[in-house]
This record gives sequence, C-alpha cells and structure tokens, in this order.
Amino acid sequence: MGYDPSNPMKDRITDVGPRNYEEFLPPIIKRNFGKWLYHEILEPGVLVHVSETGEKVYTVRVGGCRLMSVQHIREICDIADKHCDGHVRWTTRNNVEFMVDDEAKLKPLMEDLEKRKFAGGSNKFPRGGTGAGLTNIVHTQGWIHCHTPAIDASGVVKCVMDELYDDFQNMRFPAQVRISLACCLNMCGAVHCSDIAILGIHRKPPMVDHENLGNMCEIPLAVAACPTGAIKPATVDGKKSVAVNNERCMFCGNCFTMCPSMPLADEEGSGVAILVGGKLSNRIKPPMFSKVVVPFLPNEPPRWPQTVLAIKKILYTYMEDARKYERLGNWAERIGWERFFEKTGLPFTAHLIDDYRFAYTTWRTSTQFKF
Ligand code: HEM
Ligand code: HEM
Ligand code: SF4
Ligand code: SF4
Repeated sequence: MGYDPSNPMKDRITDVGPRNYEEFLPPIIKRNFGKWLYHEILEPGVLVHVSETGEKVYTVRVGGCRLMSVQHIREICDIADKHCDGHVRWTTRNNVEFMVDDEAKLKPLMEDLEKRKFAGGSNKFPRGGTGAGLTNIVHTQGWIHCHTPAIDASGVVKCVMDELYDDFQNMRFPAQVRISLACCLNMCGAVHCSDIAILGIHRKPPMVDHENLGNMCEIPLAVAACPTGAIKPATVDGKKSVAVNNERCMFCGNCFTMCPSMPLADEEGSGVAILVGGKLSNRIKPPMFSKVVVPFLPNEPPRWPQTVLAIKKILYTYMEDARKYERLGNWAERIGWERFFEKTGLPFTAHLIDDYRFAYTTWRTSTQFKF
C-alpha cells in the first residue's frame, strides 16, 4: 500500500526492530554456532576457523571505504552470490568479509576480488586488515554530511590509507594498529581510544549572530553547553543574545551544536590534531585513552600531506622500536613520553600540557625522567 500523506498514521508499521541475525548466517556458520575450536590467519586478509565438528570456514577480509553507493553494494552482492551462496558480512571497522566453506573456493574468490578496480585505478576490494597490521580507519561524516566538522573525514582517510596501503596488506607491526578519525571533538567513533587518532579542531571562538540568536536558540542551553563557562546571557542592541569571553573559549564548538547562531568553522583556524596511545582491549594492560601529541596541522585538501607525514613518522618509529605484542600506547609509556617525542622528532609544546580541571594528575610528580 502506498504512503498516503493526508493520512500519515494509516497502515503505519513501527517498533519492529532489526531482522534477526540468524536469518542471514551462512549454513556452515549456523551449523557450527558456538562450537568453534580455534582459528588461524593463513595470510594477510585470510582466516580459517575450525569447528569441533571438523568443519572449516575460510574468511576473506577486504577493505571497505564505508561510504558506498548502491552500485558498489550490488557488486558486493554479486560477488557473494558467485562465491559464497549469497552471504557476506561487515566488520566493526567497516571492512567486508566473504566466507566460503571449502578451501577450493578460496582461490577463485581471492582472484576475483583482486582484479576489480575503479576507473581511476584504485582497488575495489583490497585484501588485508588482519593480525598485527593496519586495518580500516573508523571515521565520521566530515564535509560530506555534518554541520560541525573542523576537517573532512573521507578525504583524510583516503590519503592516509593510500600512504599506509602496504601495511593494510601486511602484518609486520609489533601489534595491531588502530587508526581512527573524527572531524570534531564530539569524537563520534573511536578517536579517544585508538593507537593513532586524527581529530578535527578549531582555533577561533564562535562568531555570534546577535540579530537572530534570540529567535534561533534556547539561550540557557547555549550557556550550559560551554565546558569552560565562557558564555553568558547578554542583551545586545535591545535583543536577547549571548556574550562570549574569548579568553576563556577553547573553541570546542559545543555551543554551535546547541545554537545555530554561533558558527566557528574557519578556513585557516580549523585543522587537525593528532592523538596517540589509546586502546580498547584489556590484553596485558588495561584500556587507555589516547593523548594529544600534535596540537595542530592545517587542513590541506585534497591530500593533507603534513597530516600523513606526521602519522607515518609516529607509526614507523613505533614499528622499529616497540617490542612484540606492545601496543603503541604501551610502548610510549614504557620508554617514557619524553623519549616518545625524542624518537618521533615531534616538537613538544605548551598546548600539550593538560589545563582542564583536575589536570594536575597528568603532570609529573616525580624526579624520575630521562634527559
Ligand atoms: C548534533 C549532533 C549530531 C548530529 C546532527 C548527528 C548526525 C548524524 C547523521 C546525519 C548521521 C548519518 C550520516 C549518514 O547517514 O551519512 C550520523 C552518523 C553517526 N553518528 Fe551522529 N550526529 C550527531 C552527534 C553524534 C554524536 C555525539 C556521536 C557519538 C558520540 C555520533 C555518532 C555517530 C556515529 C557513530 C554515526 C555512524 C557513522 C557511520 O556511518 O559509521 N553522532 N550522525
Ligand atoms: C564501558 C563502555 C564501553 C565498552 C565496554 C565498549 C566496548 C567496546 C568493544 C569491546 C569494542 C570492540 C572492539 C573490537 O572488537 O575491536 C568496541 C568498539 C567500539 N566502540 Fe565501544 N565500548 C564502550 C564505550 C564506547 C563509547 C562511549 C563509544 C563512543 C563514544 C564507543 C565507540 C566504539 C566504536 C566506534 C567502536 C568500533 C571501534 C573498532 O571497531 O575498532 N564505545 N567497544
Ligand atoms: S565527529 Fe563531529 S563533525 Fe564529525 S560527524 Fe561527528 S559530530 Fe559531525
Ligand atoms: S566554542 Fe566551546 S569553549 Fe568556546 S564558547 Fe563555545 S562552548 Fe565555550
């Protein structure tokens, strides 16, 4: 039945929830659900899981650009129809996994995936993302869809993955490396808990549209949005508005999220900060937040060369210096952050010293340090 705009509640279906995942399981997965004995990584991007019934399932993981056309999804479906009886899955990092129940089906699948390219030459389905290598970059909307970004997401991610492509297809790091990106410090996604994080930041306070603010915004919400108390209600030219104390503002953009009359994005002011050393797992050491190590790099569309260079410096210093199984953050903590800056060649500036509320716990209360 077609939707009738004059009777919007008629035939309305609601609260049905997602489809049950069991409907979509490949038969071999369904048969062996909860019975897996062990797994191996056969080569970068290829896994095998062995069940107690003796059955084996082979998984081929390929990179996904996350933002995909229906045409591309259809191509993925075609591949799944051809090689995997119509089954396919996506990972928590937006890679795509094709599964087959027989080793003989593995090679034709891999060859098929490998030969598919976009007109510009990029690989459509690069195999990799397993083990102690680099996998997909968890990222956000950027200039493609959001109104609060300080940087783009898809663009920066493409530049970084192009430069680090070999490490998507290899497993030569001491431990797995998670890179993520968020285009503003709402941090949608995983930047606060990644080995390397690319974060969009602003450096200028919001502009205030006094003329319209009273009509557009719930003023107390804008006031309460500010983490540093930089905003107070004010009357400007007889109109209700706000006043921003620029000395107190650290450009988080939270007031703009609440109030459309306080925009702050700026061509020169906005750009990239880099954080490192976060992790989610509890393996060996507890999970950690990532820390800021590069306070600012400019937006340089379309290739962001300085951002890419800084990430390469950090990543390959870690690769050379860390011990097996050591995540980037565990390495930096073991050698000391002063050594991290020395080895990576990153400058240490006053911006990196915490000054928010109980910041003193991050300062050094010890004489133990290396010259
Ligand atoms: C003003 C506030 C926000 C707005 C208007 C907003 C809007 C959106 C929109 C429109 C999408 C879908 C984009 C698309 O389909 O292309 C999206 C996706 C998403 N948002 Fe938000 N969002 C907001 C805040 C947040 C916050 C605070 C978080 C997390 C802390 C968050 C996490 C996400 C995530 C994880 C996705 C999915 C990204 C993906 O496709 O993988 N959002 N948001
Ligand atoms: C106590 C709270 C939380 C727990 C226990 C938790 C746990 C997890 C776990 C176990 C994963 C899977 C990691 C993996 O398999 O690699 C994960 C992934 C993720 N979490 Fe959380 N999480 C928590 C809070 C959050 C919050 C607050 C956010 C967002 C602000 C968030 C965003 C994400 C994202 C984006 C991923 C995907 C990252 C990836 O695939 O590597 N999580 N989380
Ligand atoms: S990180 Fe910020 S700018 Fe990026 S999608 Fe999320 S809210 Fe929008
Ligand atoms: S940008 Fe952030 S710190 Fe600055 S006034 Fe707005 S809410 Fe406050």
